[in-house]
Amino acid sequence: MSKRRPLIAANWKMHKTLEEARSLAREVRQGLQPGFNSEVALAPPFTALAAVALELAGSGLGLAGQDTHWERQGAFTGAISPVMLKDVGCRYVIVGHSERRQYFGETDRLVNLKLKAVLEVGLCPICCIGESLEERQGGHTLARVGQQLEHGLSDLGGLTGAQLVLAYEPVWAIGTGLTATPQQAQEVHAFIRSLLREFLGAAAEDVRILYGGSVTPDNAASLMAEADIDGALVGGASLKSASFLGIIKAAG
Ligand code: PGA
Repeated sequence: MSKRRPLIAANWKMHKTLEEARSLAREVRQGLQPGFNSEVALAPPFTALAAVALELAGSGLGLAGQDTHWERQGAFTGAISPVMLKDVGCRYVIVGHSERRQYFGETDRLVNLKLKAVLEVGLCPICCIGESLEERQGGHTLARVGQQLEHGLSDLGGLTGAQLVLAYEPVWAIGTGLTATPQQAQEVHAFIRSLLREFLGAAAEDVRILYGGSVTPDNAASLMAEADIDGALVGGASLKSASFLGIIKAAG
């Protein structure tokens, strides 16, 4: 057993109206069984952050932004800053999700700027990295993940393990129903931790590395049984309280 407390984070993506978001947050809060071991965080769309913050108040459950701009304020129509996310009650911010990279052209350089901005305001980034299907099939998984990590974390300075969360999300497993096997995931997680040791030294042992990509109540326990898998970033299965609560339960 590692000393890292698992983190189970729900990424609602572009789902949920205000009322739907309130209900789902309430159901998750009320459905948690006493004695669960994990930390739990919800990442609703920006429009529902304030409402979900109210639902979660006093519960210990964390709130997360799904993305952020890298400046604190300015003429950036449509964007949301880390200061605003902190103000609304976020503890975490997802940075560099593959959908941001794929559909919005986010580069490793941009991810690096966002990580710095999030850390600067005292929030904890959940930085996503992962290979495409072609990269996996071509045998480039570790090279790609290593490159994303090195560029993403460059010039971040000394961090404690608690300041950073990583999420390994193979692009081919996101929303497809194809999950990496626990062995496939563990291989990459162990590699990520070995690189983290070069960046952060001993603090690398405290960084939580989540797995994401078609996590369900059925596969969560076997994934999280692996030595370097410290929780999950959950998309589809987080949109219904029963399946999300099932994952939290499976995490122990
Ligand atoms: P999924 O999404 O669980 O629907 O595969 C995970 C994610 O994109 O974070």
